[in-house]
Amino acid sequence: MSITFHMATPNFAFEARDVDISQPLSAADVAQLRKGWLDAGGVLFLRKQDITPDQHIDFSRHFGNVYDQGPVNNPALAGYYLEGYPQIFQVTNKKLADGRPVGREDAGTYWHSDASWQPEPPTGSLLYARELPSTGGDTIFANMYQAYETLSEPMKKMLEGLEAQHTLLSAVLQTSYAKEYVGKLDQAQSKNAVHPVIKTHPETGRKLLFVNPGFTSHIIGLPRDESKAILDYLFAHSTKPDNVYRHVWQLGDLLMWDNRSVMHYAVPNYKAFGIRYMHRTTIKGIPQ
Ligand code: OGA
Ligand code: MN
Repeated sequence: MSITFHMATPNFAFEARDVDISQPLSAADVAQLRKGWLDAGGVLFLRKQDITPDQHIDFSRHFGNVYDQGPVNNPALAGYYLEGYPQIFQVTNKKLADGRPVGREDAGTYWHSDASWQPEPPTGSLLYARELPSTGGDTIFANMYQAYETLSEPMKKMLEGLEAQHTLLSAVLQTSYAKEYVGKLDQAQSKNAVHPVIKTHPETGRKLLFVNPGFTSHIIGLPRDESKAILDYLFAHSTKPDNVYRHVWQLGDLLMWDNRSVMHYAVPNYKAFGIRYMHRTTIKGIPQ
């Protein structure tokens, strides 16, 4: 295939064209897509793909190991996987005839990096649009390389070497997400990890800012008010219009994000405008 890449917004988020992932890809195609994904700052999308769950999983395997039952070991989510496909998580407002949910309705309706409360969060996810409302339901991405690079030099210097606490508890306390942990806050608290505030991406070697409003509770070693002021500033800085790409979904879009270098936000404003039905695979590790 002769794949071409097109920037969706300055220096962030590329569309790969002339790719049909229902067909076998050569090693060179895969290498080109991986390079495009990394060069794009970590958001790459392909339009008009017509793929089965098996093809979605096979395509995902080119980029890492595919999780079974996702990165979040939570029995409450077990019913949200596609029947017969524990690799495919359903994000949707669709309901069964008896009113039971088909998948998770409010996955990530706030700024976050997936499961950053794990010591080794997932590498990324590949989200495929199967049904869409007439309007709304966009996903917004923030480029955390650029967030780092556009900090002032004194601010970069101050943050270097600091570490932050990430915990699922933070999201449970702040959002309607993970309702199943309400009343079980000790469980949500036990899901936690410490990460450097400034990380180096393992593949690109570029520095990036690694804090997110969903899961980052505080910067370790700073007084509470200082930590809060700095994190609030970093969150506002990272999510400035200059630093984000808003993906307006079309049917058949397959979008992959690099969970190590972007934050994302699923905009839950579409509920009165129809069904949004997405299939998601999540990958871990880097193929050798
Ligand atoms: C997720 C998520 C985004 C979306 O699945 O991790 O945040 O737009 N979803 O559905
Ligand atoms: Mn998410």
